[in-house]
This record gives sequence, structure tokens and C-alpha cells, in this order.
Amino acid sequence: MKRRTGVILWMVISIVIMSSMITPKEKPSEMSKLMKSMLVYIQNEKQLIETNKPVSRLSVDAQKMGKAKITKGKKLSKNHKQYVDRFFEDLEKYYLVKDSSERIATFNKMVSSCITCHQHECPGPITVIKKNLFEVKE
Ligand code: HEC
Repeated sequence: MKRRTGVILWMVISIVIMSSMITPKEKPSEMSKLMKSMLVYIQNEKQLIETNKPVSRLSVDAQKMGKAKITKGKKLSKNHKQYVDRFFEDLEKYYLVKDSSERIATFNKMVSSCITCHQHECPGPITVIKKNLFEVKE
């Protein structure tokens, strides 16, 4: 009798362990989803610039970004709102530009605003974001 309980216990424990290995990790946060679309946006926008096509608009706005929940355990900086506002200011400036060299400069500035916030809140993706900067000859 005792032995049977032992066997059952062992089976229950191994099922619990195995299922915890199979179940996927935490779902991506709202912020993480927004951010992925922002990365796609700048990658696409860079191509538009290179092929001389008109500016497209980002589907994320300051309000959405300000409210988005972040991954558990991560922390936003004290100046979070300031970084959000700064990014959207630079994005507006980028939208307004017509001239192509200015377009590159304002694009780089907007991408730098992504990086500034990331230096304080989430350094991981910086390398990936940086790849989208245009090299500007002095
Ligand atoms: C105001 C701060 C801020 C700005 C501006 C910002 N980010 Fe982020 N980003 C974050 C935070 C915080 C996270 C972590 C989100 C989480 O894990 O919930 C993040 C995550 C990411 C990720 C990783 C997403 C994932 O989970 O795989 C990428 C890629 C990214 N950002 C790209 C960008 C790009 C591109 C821009 C500019 C167009 C940008 N970010 C602007 C704060 C910012």
C-alpha cells in the first residue's frame, strides 16, 4: 500500500515538472508588443527614405505608450514621461520634413530618442535599434 502511494506521488511530481517545462514563458507585455511594431516602423521607414518614398505614420501614440503595461520585474525610469514626450516630439519633426537630407537628420534624431530611453530603461535592444541609424558624413 505504502509503495503504491509512493509510485503515485512520484508520477504526480514528474507530471508537474514536465508540464512546467512545456508551458510557454510569460506572454509578451503590452509595451513589448508596441515596441516590436516600433522597430518594424523604423526599419520600414529607413527603406522608404532610401527609395525616396513618402513618410508613413507610426500607429503608436504617446497616450498608448504612456499607458502600456511592461514586463513584470522591469522598471521604468523616473523620467519615463519625459522620454516618451521627447520621442514623440522628434517623431513629429520627422513627419514634417520635406527635404531629403533633413529627412535623414530628423530620422536619426528620432531613432536616437529611442536609444536615449533605452539606455535608462531597457538596454538590451540598443544594438538592434542602432543598426537603423544612417551614417552621416561630417
Ligand atoms: C520612453 C521609453 C522608450 C522609448 C522612447 C522607446 N522604447 Fe523601446 N522599450 C522600452 C521599454 C521600457 C521596453 C521593455 C518593454 C517590456 O519588456 O515590457 C522596450 C522594449 C523594446 C524592444 C524589445 C521588445 C521585445 O520585447 O522584444 C524593442 C525592439 C524596442 N523597445 C525598440 C524601440 C524602438 C525602435 C524605439 C523607437 C522607435 C523605442 N523602442 C523607443 C522603452 C522605450
